[in-house]
Amino acid sequence: MANWKMNGDRSFWYNLAEQTALQAKEFKDCKFVMFPPFVALADVENALFEAEKNVELGAQDVSNYEHGAFTSQVSAEMLTGLGCSYVLVGHSECREYLGQPDELLAEKIEVAQAKGLKTVLCIGETLEEYEAGQSVQIVVEQLEKCLANCENSDLLAVAYEPVWAIGTGKVATIDDIKPIFAEIKQSLLDKFGSKGDNVALLYGGSVKADNANEIFSVDEINGVLVGGASLDATSFVDIARNA
Ligand code: PGA
Repeated sequence: MANWKMNGDRSFWYNLAEQTALQAKEFKDCKFVMFPPFVALADVENALFEAEKNVELGAQDVSNYEHGAFTSQVSAEMLTGLGCSYVLVGHSECREYLGQPDELLAEKIEVAQAKGLKTVLCIGETLEEYEAGQSVQIVVEQLEKCLANCENSDLLAVAYEPVWAIGTGKVATIDDIKPIFAEIKQSLLDKFGSKGDNVALLYGGSVKADNANEIFSVDEINGVLVGGASLDATSFVDIARNA
C-alpha cells in the first residue's frame, strides 16, 4: 500500500500512478493500493483506467460524518464516487497533527464501512512508549478502542506502524515486531472469532526493497504500508519484487 502523504503535484501524481500500475502488472498475485492526496483522486482514477484488477485506489482519511455542514471534510460517499475502495484511518500523522483520538477513529471506521470502503486502521506506539516497554499495551488499547463499533471484519485491515519508525529510516527489528503482531492477531480473533484470521495485517515504517524480505518473514504479516519509497514507482514495486 502506497501512502503518498502530502507530496507531489498534478503531473507527478498522474505519472506515478501510471508507472506504478504498469510495473505492478508483473505481480498479479499481489494487491497494490495507492493513497494519493484527496485532490489527486480524480486524476489518479483516470490514470488507473486501464490498470489490472490488482491495483486499487484509496484515500488518506475520511470524515466521521455522512454529509452536511462540515467545511473541509470529505465523506465516504464522495470517496466511493471517485473510485476509492480503501481508506486509511488513524495514521499517526492524523492522530498527531489533526488531533484525532481513538473514539473519533471508531466513528470514521463505522461510517466508511457502511459505504463499503475497506478501512486500513493504523496503530502504533511513540518512541517514549516503546522505550518504556509499553508497545503491546498501547497497540492493543488502540485496537480495542478504534474497533469498538466495528462488526465487519471483511472490510478491515490493520497496519502496525511504530511512530518512531515512520520516515526516520529506523526499522523495528523482527524481535520487536513479532510479539506485537501475535497480540494483534489474538485481539482480532477475540473480537471477531475465526473471521479475525482473515483481517490483513500490514507493517509500516521505513519499508524499502532491501528490508521487505525480512519483514515478510514474520508469519502474520500480509503486506506493507509504504510512505517515502512509494513516491517512486520502481522503488515501490521493487518491494513486491524482493518480497
Ligand atoms: P515511511 O512512511 O515509509 O516513509 O516511513 C510510512 C507511513 O507513514 O505509512
